[in-house]
Amino acid sequence: MKTPDNKHRILILGASGFIGNALYKELAPYFKTFGTYHISNKTYENNQHFFQYRVEEDDVFEILQAVKPSIIISCLRGDFHAQVIAHQHIAEYVATHDCKIIFFSSANVFDAYSKYPSYEDDKTLSDSIYGHFKIKIENMLLRLPKKNVVIIRLPMVFGTQSPRLKEIKNHIIEDTAIEVFPNLIMNVTTDFKMTQQVHYMINRSKHGVFHLGSSDLVHHDDFIMEMVALITSKSVRFKQVYTTNEDRYLAVMPKSNKLPKHLHMSSTELLEELDNYINYNP
Ligand SMILES: NC(=O)c1ccc[n+]([C@@H]2O[C@H](COP(=O)([O-])OP(=O)(O)OC[C@H]3O[C@@H](n4cnc5c(N)ncnc54)[C@H](OP(=O)(O)O)[C@@H]3O)[C@@H](O)[C@H]2O)c1
Repeated sequence: MKTPDNKHRILILGASGFIGNALYKELAPYFKTFGTYHISNKTYENNQHFFQYRVEEDDVFEILQAVKPSIIISCLRGDFHAQVIAHQHIAEYVATHDCKIIFFSSANVFDAYSKYPSYEDDKTLSDSIYGHFKIKIENMLLRLPKKNVVIIRLPMVFGTQSPRLKEIKNHIIEDTAIEVFPNLIMNVTTDFKMTQQVHYMINRSKHGVFHLGSSDLVHHDDFIMEMVALITSKSVRFKQVYTTNEDRYLAVMPKSNKLPKHLHMSSTELLEELDNYINYNP
């Protein structure tokens, strides 16, 4: 249900997390935006726009009834089985209300294919429990009316608040080895670009499957080493992890559902953006 002035009411499931919080900050100035958190936290408890939600115990329907969203953004973590059930309830809500679901999926829905990057219309196939779980929810949502569903497949997301960047910084401080995967060819993105892309999709009422990765491919080890060089000039230890003898792709490239040029990003631009941030917050 939209607000009386025809604005969306947005519910972000997982709004206290890395991706959910970046989206909340981007969307809250423009839309009536609500969110969930899992771990008790005074800031959220005192915020009328936030609800505590434990996917294993709580019924998502109660939050849906309280918020009456016209857009649900799902960027949760938690028990996989409980998440599948929660998304069944969300699908029922979307099917019976004027509501859209934006689901955050992952490049791992293609992790059984290693020879090429993957595109929006490629058939999903996974070797991992995580990939299987994402495919199950994707398939459930793709049975809903087309215009009510957005599936976003993300590669590794880096950003100022990203757990990945924090982990790298910790290794540097503690002088422990940073793991790199020399055979892994991937694309990447940032929370900054991803939130702009989602905002655009909401404004333009987009639907379908979107691959929100950089327009180019990078080797994991090269990319992480370049990032480390931005953070420190001291020598850092790397642990090279080889999972196969051959190169393996884990990349989600856009082809049939491209966003406009100003929303594209290359891995070099990503590193420049992080460099700016690191220079201001050493
Ligand atoms: N980050 C990436 O690089 C990346 C890449 C591909 C796909 N994705 C997908 O994007 C989504 C968000 O990822 P993220 O990196 O933002 O994760 P995150 O930072 O760990 O945030 C997860 C969110 O889910 C909440 N949560 C955790 N356990 C829960 C539970 N048992 N019940 C209810 N809520 C729970 C967290 O609440 P608390 O903050 O209170 O714990 C938080 O709001 C995930 O679905 C992930 O698969 C992420």
